[in-house]
Amino acid sequence: MNILIQYATIVTSKQSFNADIFISNGKIAQIGSSLQILKPIDKIIDASAYFVFPGGIDPHVHMHLPTPAGYSADDFATGSKAALLGGTTTLLDFVTPQKGQSLIDALIDRKEEANSSLCDYSFHVSPIEWTKTTRQEIKDCIEAGITSFKVYMAYKETVGLNDEDIFKVMHTVGKLGGIVTLHCESGDKVEELRNKLAGENKVSPEYHPVSRPPETETESVQMAIEMAKLTKCPIYIVHTSVGNSLEFIEKAQQEKQQVYSETCPHYLLLNDAKYKGDFKETAKYVLSPPLRKKEDQNMLWDAIRNGIIKTIGTDHCPFNFKQKQAGINDFRKIPNGAGGVEHRMQLLYTYGVLRNRMSYNQFVDITSTQPAKIFGLYPQKGEIAVGSDADMVIWNPKKENTITAQNHHQNCDLEIYEGFKTIGAPEIVIANGQIVVENKKLVSSPKGNFLKRKIEY
Ligand code: URP
Ligand code: ZN
Ligand code: ZN
Repeated sequence: MNILIQYATIVTSKQSFNADIFISNGKIAQIGSSLQILKPIDKIIDASAYFVFPGGIDPHVHMHLPTPAGYSADDFATGSKAALLGGTTTLLDFVTPQKGQSLIDALIDRKEEANSSLCDYSFHVSPIEWTKTTRQEIKDCIEAGITSFKVYMAYKETVGLNDEDIFKVMHTVGKLGGIVTLHCESGDKVEELRNKLAGENKVSPEYHPVSRPPETETESVQMAIEMAKLTKCPIYIVHTSVGNSLEFIEKAQQEKQQVYSETCPHYLLLNDAKYKGDFKETAKYVLSPPLRKKEDQNMLWDAIRNGIIKTIGTDHCPFNFKQKQAGINDFRKIPNGAGGVEHRMQLLYTYGVLRNRMSYNQFVDITSTQPAKIFGLYPQKGEIAVGSDADMVIWNPKKENTITAQNHHQNCDLEIYEGFKTIGAPEIVIANGQIVVENKKLVSSPKGNFLKRKIEY
């Protein structure tokens, strides 16, 4: 399909300018004014009232995640549909092997599960144990197009690694030119606190944040940075939630260590006041790390402005209320996580750009260009340039919406942003040169591709 977008205000991470865009065979073929088009044009879009942004890249989602309370509520089909409707065209999910399973076998299985994705996708692969073959397995994954490996400093009893093994992963990945992403919470301390609270019959969701105090993140961030320095491994700290963690991240960045940091919309827009109330009202906010204080929110916004936080992922991992009820008598049994993949762009545009907390170019950088650069997808993704994939959002800056579980497309009866008003939304979404969303509706069913990533970034 050949599409001509006319009179667009194109916004990239570096500049904003007016031009036309010609899309052919899934790629951006020409950009400029008064373009000479030699091919037949199937569709002309008048974008004079709109912005054109590169399609969003969500670097942190968990579709179809197995837990003792069942799979997370969105599978790849429903979650990617919600993503497209919100202007996100690429997803980075995770591969978590079973104990004893090789990383490459787990990758093959996960690719099968992601086959129904409407968005393009890749995965961060998680070593959950260190064995004689892990080094070779990491190499096999790099060969298969994976550049990032995720380790959990929490959840020790299931997927978490001890510091010694994290050190080995960093040493290996660093030498091979990849990047290690980390869930930073001191697992042992959290476990001790959870059990202590339960022993005192403090079992309602309000004790979830008490069991994961800010220092469990901050000291774990410090430890991760220290190990990364010793192993010379680039790292990416997922879902940074605590203001004090930023001090250590900033210091490492100033010392030219390759330390990237991500936060999530819920840490910017919600705080721990949400844990006061009955189970129905509070259980949906049980996610890890927990929501923090208002001061942390302000520090995270500042860190975005100052470029210390480079990306915003949603950690999309919704559960239905029935699943959350597994922990009605014990917050430790509530499956951790909430949705957000559909709302990331709208929330950041409304509460970031329109509130002068970030510029238009920074919005593009943080929602698309940086994830592409950090994770080996650039300039195929994350850019509006000739030769890049034609993934773009034609953004209507006037479209208003109120987020609610009644009208969202995430496959979940809970909504942590219930009642949030947004201004600005996708008018049209184009993925790989195909119009996929128009007028708030999915108008075609694209087949997402597994993206083989490259090690040089
Ligand atoms: O609560 C969360 N974040 N659930 C998903 C898994 C993780 O830790 O990222
Ligand atoms: Zn996590
Ligand atoms: Zn996560």
